[in-house]
Amino acid sequence: MSLDPSASLPTFRAGMVGMGMIFDETYAPFFRQARHGIHDPRCGLFRVTLVGAATRTGRRAEAWHAAQPDVAPEFQSHAGTEAVAALLQSGVDFLCVASPDDRHFDAARQALEAGKHVLIEKPSVLTLAELEELQRLAHQHGVLAKVVYHKLLDPDHKRLRTLVADAVLQHVNNGYCTLLEPKSISTGQFAEWIQGRNPGTYVAVHYIKLIDFTFGGHLISVSCTGQRGIVGAADGDTWDSTQLRLTYRYDDGRDAVFDIHTSWVTPDNFPGYVEQEVQFRFDNGVWNGHSRKRGIECVIEGRTPHELKTSINTHYNGSCLEPWGERRQRGYGVEVIERFAREVAYVEAGGPATERSARLAEMRALHYNDVASDRQVVAAVQAMEAILRHHAAGRPHAVVEVNAAEGGLVLRLPGVTEAEVLHGPRV
Ligand SMILES: NC(=O)c1ccc[n+]([C@@H]2O[C@H](COP(=O)([O-])OP(=O)(O)OC[C@H]3O[C@@H](n4cnc5c(N)ncnc54)[C@H](O)[C@@H]3O)[C@@H](O)[C@H]2O)c1
Repeated sequence: MSLDPSASLPTFRAGMVGMGMIFDETYAPFFRQARHGIHDPRCGLFRVTLVGAATRTGRRAEAWHAAQPDVAPEFQSHAGTEAVAALLQSGVDFLCVASPDDRHFDAARQALEAGKHVLIEKPSVLTLAELEELQRLAHQHGVLAKVVYHKLLDPDHKRLRTLVADAVLQHVNNGYCTLLEPKSISTGQFAEWIQGRNPGTYVAVHYIKLIDFTFGGHLISVSCTGQRGIVGAADGDTWDSTQLRLTYRYDDGRDAVFDIHTSWVTPDNFPGYVEQEVQFRFDNGVWNGHSRKRGIECVIEGRTPHELKTSINTHYNGSCLEPWGERRQRGYGVEVIERFAREVAYVEAGGPATERSARLAEMRALHYNDVASDRQVVAAVQAMEAILRHHAAGRPHAVVEVNAAEGGLVLRLPGVTEAEVLHGPRV
């Protein structure tokens, strides 16, 4: 037996782009645990080490590292416009992109061009043209390009999908989803990049993906409206709340309609961090889900609901003292990142080098997270953003038709004969 059994373990070097809220909640606990090793039956034990970050100013990254230098001993902070290139040059095996969503594409593109695997926070990118480019680069350089939609790993959503896959719940007809974020998100944390943005792109995507992945079908139309006046001017281009409507068609010719309502101006004293509710109606049933009201109500004088929340979603992310004494942050928010690390490890260390391309193809075929499977989600985001842009410019109530005669994404305004083709190729 070797004195140091971990010395020869495969170790994957990871880089982070963006170290904000989602880093603190999910990536930081992942890296804290992954440095000790992850066991995967297909490739044995491997380790992941965070070697650096590219961020806008470097301040949060440096403060994080200074507070826990042992979590990432090799950590280097890169800031400014060349930060991603410098991080890639420092030698990484994969890059996690968690910068604001309009800055995902460029970082992901650079990583893929450098032949590195990439994991991108939702929404992957904001246009189909960008998505196609990432897909092309991933194929050209023989690496994975994946997206994080952690709600697909929520045990409630897994159960929903199982009932649908097993035809226990039959043919979805319509449904609604709502996700409301606190005002502190839009007016504080995101103040640097919120101008011209909307909460739909930020959080409706969770449910667009859930609907797309769970029920399948073909997206055929997108409409959207919303409200302004709190985050920005009442006639400006920054949105407080949005109401998105998607229509899907299924192979039997029947349609289903989904309404997704989002906001980032919910009062900060709301008892839960976010409000998340869904209802889906089927030919033979109804599914009601509420992520916040799954059981816990906890009030602590002087601390809830601001510093600590009254209703807590421990399924997503719970900081726990385990029965065996260990302190651990766990939940599906962390699990989804670990799954990606397992996929990378399987491709690179899961068998002989001669069979790498077969393993790569196998991991790309995982529809829950591959960029290739994000097409209808990105189409819905691109359509929603275009509709809201027209609305802010005084032309409300546009509808985007998917795979119309004129092109893949076609925007039509009431009273305007000529359509605008947002994306030519079929979605
Ligand atoms: N999966 C989820 O539920 C979830 C939740 C929150 C956020 N997110 C996603 O994660 C991403 C980041 O969100 P957040 O809440 O952590 O945001 P945040 O504002 O808290 O942090 C953003 C980070 O990106 C960095 N950054 C800004 N511009 C950059 C650039 N050009 N290059 C490199 N770094 C840059 C900032 O320095 C900061 O570290 C977004 O895409 C968001 O949609 C996902």
